[in-house]
Amino acid sequence: MRINIKQTITTFILIILVFACTHDGALLNPLFTSRINDTVAKTPFDSTTTTSGCDTTKINYVEHIKPIMTKYCTSCHSTNLKLGGYDLSTYAGTLIPAKSGKLLGSVLHGTGFIPMPSTNQFISTCEVSLIKRWIEQAYLVDSVGSSDTAIIVNPPVTPSVNTCNPDTVYFASQILPLMVSSCAMSGCHDVISKKDGVIMTDYTNIMKIVKANDPNGSKLYKSLIDTDLEDRMPMSPIPPFNQTQIALVYKWIAQGAKNNACTNTTSGTCTTTNMSFSKDVLPIFTSNCNGCHNAVAPSAGINLTTYSGTISISARIIGSITHAAGFSPMPTSTIKLSDCDISKISAWINQGKLNN
Ligand code: HEC
Ligand code: HEC
Repeated sequence: MRINIKQTITTFILIILVFACTHDGALLNPLFTSRINDTVAKTPFDSTTTTSGCDTTKINYVEHIKPIMTKYCTSCHSTNLKLGGYDLSTYAGTLIPAKSGKLLGSVLHGTGFIPMPSTNQFISTCEVSLIKRWIEQAYLVDSVGSSDTAIIVNPPVTPSVNTCNPDTVYFASQILPLMVSSCAMSGCHDVISKKDGVIMTDYTNIMKIVKANDPNGSKLYKSLIDTDLEDRMPMSPIPPFNQTQIALVYKWIAQGAKNNACTNTTSGTCTTTNMSFSKDVLPIFTSNCNGCHNAVAPSAGINLTTYSGTISISARIIGSITHAAGFSPMPTSTIKLSDCDISKISAWINQGKLNN
């Protein structure tokens, strides 16, 4: 009997809640009207206007995103009232729809998304841009730049920036891009997911699984050559490192696993004539992009392991690798390909994007 009464009360409360929040009349409900600000735009987001006074150069959660959520969303999406299952009052809670694409989809009233904050209300064009840039800029938490991202932490470039020596393996240009591309994807070894406590985004964290001068005693190297597929890294279905990449990691560790970088002083060493897709372009993608853009788990649907996959996105590649405005910076917002690699890809495109 008592159980039945409880159930009835619970059901009753649920019905009220669902009615109050999903019914078309929801916004007439005083509970919500009082919280929803008058400034909610009544017209849709206009993607053609760049709102003046809307600075989207560096966006972070604390200063820019949380206030938008508080203004429009937390009346229904809070820790206590998690409508739709979303708590938009915290960083971690906001990341969930941000990463699944639902945050932008819903505020843009995109097809296939539930329109937010409501069917006939829109957040402003500037606010949409802020959310969009925040996502593109890897979900920074604060103005200091802490982030969850797959991508953020730059190696503190050490004093040892020398002229490139072909016999030396350099962390900044050869090891880090490989690690970020193949290990630091969201869900694996980025700062938030940190599977098994391992973070592969920067020198300090990578060194936690490296014993300088001792490749065979380094967890990093051992994981690359492990024959047990459960333990081999990168984990299946992401393809294993090829022999050249494994040898590179070995050599870097054997040379002392330094946080080193180099610059090429001799100009003209970058050949860009008669570029070949398979010999010039693909190897750049293999070392810098394929951990994220592969056939089995292509980020943003982009597969850069094949000619056809590359062709289908070729119009966006130069913008993204040069970190041009309006493009998502690749391979990450803090790591850029070398000028020579950029020139090679650009030359291949200008030479007719041949499948050679
Ligand atoms: C009046 C209450 C209310 C407000 C205000 C509100 N939401 Fe929602 N939201 C809901 C409800 C209820 C659902 C679940 C609807 C459903 O599942 O049918 C939902 C679902 C969502 C979803 C999932 C959408 C999808 O397509 O699956 C997202 C994302 C979301 N809200 C984000 C926001 C954001 C961002 C804001 C502020 C701009 C906001 N909401 C403001 C009530 C609200
Ligand atoms: C750590 C994972 C990761 C790496 C490494 C990476 N990408 Fe991406 N890339 C993404 C994600 C996620 C998106 C889609 C989200 C976005 O637009 O920010 C994307 C989007 C893109 C886009 C579309 C950008 C746009 O503005 O339309 C291009 C082109 C691209 N990547 C090329 C590359 C190239 C070339 C490399 C290597 C030089 C690379 N990516 C390395 C994760 C990655």
